[in-house]
Amino acid sequence: MTNEEKLKELYDKCKKCTKCELHNTRTNCVFGKGNPNARVMFVGEAPGENEDLQGYPFVGRAGKLLDRFFVAAGISHDNIYIANILKCRPPKNRDPLPSEEECCIEYLREQVRIIKPYMIVCLGRIAAQVIIDPNYRITKEHGTWVQKGDLLLTAVYHPALLLRDPRKNEEMLKDLVAIKEKIDEMDLKV
Ligand code: URA
Repeated sequence: MTNEEKLKELYDKCKKCTKCELHNTRTNCVFGKGNPNARVMFVGEAPGENEDLQGYPFVGRAGKLLDRFFVAAGISHDNIYIANILKCRPPKNRDPLPSEEECCIEYLREQVRIIKPYMIVCLGRIAAQVIIDPNYRITKEHGTWVQKGDLLLTAVYHPALLLRDPRKNEEMLKDLVAIKEKIDEMDLKV
């Protein structure tokens, strides 16, 4: 089976998931988007309203801002895959509950097992605390690299934070340019 087929099979399972309460209020299961053979994955927190309505991650205001940063840093959607820790939207975009993360994380783990990226970039504190370190401090540690087994991990600010605090835009661009340099250096293009 190709990665595309494997992801489709997992998506079909995810769409029927009732492991936590969030299935009661979802419009769509927001599984992921991008290249199924990507060497680089970006992982956010959870779908917001637009993502829930359209079924794809990072399609709302935060996603549009993220796309502008990708263009500025030269990161192409052709070479990446984007997903979230939670596949269903928490009501009023509240933070994911630990119990919801526990229910949902196996879907992300399986996405990672299928895609087998070399690099994972966490978008924001919540993803960084789940993927890199429960005590991760995004303000202090964003842009630093952590090697965990075969995976190179890093985190950047969540684009929704930049909408609230544009003073952090410069640091975000710097981090994404460094990520792009690492992608080029490691030849992580598909
Ligand atoms: N914020 C996230 O963390 N993920 C999305 O998909 C959209 C907004």
